[in-house]
Amino acid sequence: MKKLAFIALSILSIILIFLLCGSFASQKGQQYSHLRVNSNRIENRIMELAEFGKNRHGRIDRVAFSEADILGRKYIMSIMQEAGLEVKIDAAGNIIGRRDGSDPNLPPILTGSHIDSVPNGGKYDGALGVVAAIECAQVLKENAIVTRHPLEIVVFTDEEGGLVGSRAMIGTLTPGALKVKSHSGKRVGEGISAIGGNPEKLAEAARKRGDIKAFIEIHIEQGSILYTKNIDIGIVEGIVGINWWTVNIEGFSNHAGTTPMNMRQDALLAAAHLIIAVNRVVTSEPGRQVGTVGRIRCEPGAPNVIPGHVVMSVELRDLSEEKIISLIKKIKEEAKTIAEKTNTKINFQGIDATAVPAPLDQGVQKCLIDSAKELGFSSLVMPSGAGHDAQNMARIAPTGMIFVPSVGGVSHSPKEYTRPEDMAKGANVLLQAILKIDQGTLSQ
Ligand code: HGY
Ligand code: MN
Ligand code: MN
Repeated sequence: MKKLAFIALSILSIILIFLLCGSFASQKGQQYSHLRVNSNRIENRIMELAEFGKNRHGRIDRVAFSEADILGRKYIMSIMQEAGLEVKIDAAGNIIGRRDGSDPNLPPILTGSHIDSVPNGGKYDGALGVVAAIECAQVLKENAIVTRHPLEIVVFTDEEGGLVGSRAMIGTLTPGALKVKSHSGKRVGEGISAIGGNPEKLAEAARKRGDIKAFIEIHIEQGSILYTKNIDIGIVEGIVGINWWTVNIEGFSNHAGTTPMNMRQDALLAAAHLIIAVNRVVTSEPGRQVGTVGRIRCEPGAPNVIPGHVVMSVELRDLSEEKIISLIKKIKEEAKTIAEKTNTKINFQGIDATAVPAPLDQGVQKCLIDSAKELGFSSLVMPSGAGHDAQNMARIAPTGMIFVPSVGGVSHSPKEYTRPEDMAKGANVLLQAILKIDQGTLSQ
């Protein structure tokens, strides 16, 4: 009898301790619910970063590994230090600003994005995710808050060239990917060395499942859904896969005046047919898939010479990998017919810069929805048609993404614009979500 009473008492005490811990954690959560980011500081830093790579038209050319990228990274490292972060560069060139937690046994919470831009890009793509993440760390510092988990702010290397830094972080950056020519003209491997990484020691940058408590990226939407519907926050449920190919078309350069029309091997004519075929194949079935030819080079490039050689890109995106595979198969079949018709040779070569489609973690999504709700913001669960480092991170860690409205849905353009108040709303959701996850909202 005594023994039974003892067991019952022990069970009761354990339950009581759990309840007390739970309420302590939620009290702590509530205790921090008043914390807010500094909207002016975010806006100012976005503008300061935009000075690096501003070309003579006032547009942003901060492609990865360029001088502007290197200077922009220096600026970011200086504000990381201002925010009290310990700054390191990993073997892949990713910048990591760390803030220790109170429990040395807990894995870090990661947040961040990228600062490289597309050629002739805008001020906000990637930059917001980095500046907002640093802002969260700075607010924690200013309020003398020590989280249980360490916090790591990441600036991923060469996002616009195929999510290079996050591929290295999940251990999937191949030797082939290091040879790909980046927007700067440098090969990816050379670029990584130029920014302080070491392509020979990439394995040291890799993390595995269990190493990271959660990853959250805040980003401009780059589409028009939030702006048109007047919604404050997008919660991303999944990110599209992206595949790139280089297409070489071999024709025969000859005199444009003396070669009869039926004897030509015009590579540019073949390219024209192929561009139309890409559009036709992609639009001829239902779904949200997209296909683009975004780059073309024609040789020798003179008005009086029949083009003998064309190099062009093909990009396909969809939430399903199978869909992408079936689309490229159809495009290649069309290319065969075009090659016969134009007496050219068409060859497709996959570029080692693939981003896989990724659903995002439901637990992190819920945490973001709750944070937005508590802050009084409207939110919408939505897919992402743009690629992000988050889709790689999702393969090894519970991952979520916050979107804020892009005015007019414009992005990858100097006209890209997001209102300061919208950036601050997104950053506040990020701050509250970090604190919630730190207090144990996620089950893992
Ligand atoms: O191209 C993309 O979707 C991304 O911005 N890297
Ligand atoms: Mn982009
Ligand atoms: Mn981006």
